[in-house]
Amino acid sequence: MAEEILRITGGQRLEGTVTVNGGKNAALAIIPAVLLCNEPCTIENLPLVRDTQALADILVALGAKVTLSGSSMTIDPRGVKSAVVPEEYACRLRASYYFVGAMLACFHRADVSYPGGCAIGNRPIDQHIKGFEALGATVNTDRGVISARAENGLRGAEIYLDMPSVGATINIMLAATKAQGNTIIVNAGKEPHIVDLANFLNAMGASVKGAGTDTIRIRGGRPMHGCTYAIIPDQIETGTLMIAAAATRGDVLIRGALPTHMEALTAKLLEMGARVDEGVGEDSIRVRSDGNHRHVNIKTLPYPGFPTDLQQPMSVLLSTARGTSIINETIYEMRYKHLEEIRRMGGVSQIKDRLAIIEGVPRLTGCAVTATDLRAGAALVVAGLMAEGVTDIYNVQYIDRGYEHLEEKLRSLGARIERLTVED
Ligand code: EPZ
Repeated sequence: MAEEILRITGGQRLEGTVTVNGGKNAALAIIPAVLLCNEPCTIENLPLVRDTQALADILVALGAKVTLSGSSMTIDPRGVKSAVVPEEYACRLRASYYFVGAMLACFHRADVSYPGGCAIGNRPIDQHIKGFEALGATVNTDRGVISARAENGLRGAEIYLDMPSVGATINIMLAATKAQGNTIIVNAGKEPHIVDLANFLNAMGASVKGAGTDTIRIRGGRPMHGCTYAIIPDQIETGTLMIAAAATRGDVLIRGALPTHMEALTAKLLEMGARVDEGVGEDSIRVRSDGNHRHVNIKTLPYPGFPTDLQQPMSVLLSTARGTSIINETIYEMRYKHLEEIRRMGGVSQIKDRLAIIEGVPRLTGCAVTATDLRAGAALVVAGLMAEGVTDIYNVQYIDRGYEHLEEKLRSLGARIERLTVED
């Protein structure tokens, strides 16, 4: 069977200007949210990646009309009558479970098969269910389907999350927007895409306050209308490009990026010895490095802490830094699978439970490697760019879930990277 791979000839310095796309994880929350109004909405600055396409496919299967023009997607949800997302759609990504919150709000019922998503650790949904139940729904998860019912409608409630889960915060925001009365989410996630969803809901007429802090207040049941809304820049794509610039001793200006979302990564790159300058009066970040990096320690945390989604590419940069770096991955216990591949390229690391201990080596050497999830794929791209020789990356479909035209962007910066079709 034929499959696509990315082939990188490493050692090229990245130089030039690149523009980031809209946020994937913001888009994944906003697309299902369109169901909450009964009018067309246009979402601009949408990243055209497999995961956003998968959500659009679900909307079409439910009866919505979806039209794409460049990076703008217009969704007319008026034809949606079904509250069922079958397995063949739901399993394609994690964010399919946002249809539970959105459909519960609109139809007071939802039957959504269990979501898929990256295999990076245990990903329970108990906090989502707790939230739906607090809003008055009954939820059953037998036979691989999340079945939620609220025959008497949803009513506002105060919900305390045991951890600031991104997904639970988003799902509860979606459901609570149409509940009667006020909802307060305490210990909510504070990620930029949660703020972006709140802004989108408010643009449709909702009243969501406090997003970006740990307490979100939603006045439910307000009339909703269509709108046009532009998605924020992708924080993780920005970070991946920043790391790639440092990893190749490069000099890259990243446009359309929000420096305030990048503070945790910027602090660590500075600590390593790279130079990071924020654009004055414009949304841009310039990263420069001579490649002479010091080791640092990293602990992944909910925003504004160091994002778990950048831990994997960052661990590759650390693999050639001077000294020993320690990573503490507190969010997902299985997010080190890429380090096995990096070891094949000459990296030296040990994993002890949640810790990865990385001993810096002078260089990585290209070879054939396999991506096991989206950000593992991004990490292998960074590894290929900095390695000596040729790196072939298999399982590129993971990378395509979250990065639009990554190889074209990197090529425009001088990377030698191509997508090839090879026989299995
Ligand atoms: C979102 O996943 C992102 N996905 C992930 O990005 C990201 O890694 C993660 O947030 C953390 O930032 C999307 O936005 C679609 P969580 P999510 O609920 O919502 C535990 C990428 O690469 N938890 O914040 O699933 C959970 O096990 C992807 O783009 C519960 O215990 O993450 C984890 O340890 C991968 N019970 C922690 O909370 C729950 O009910 C954080 O999970 C929910 C979560």
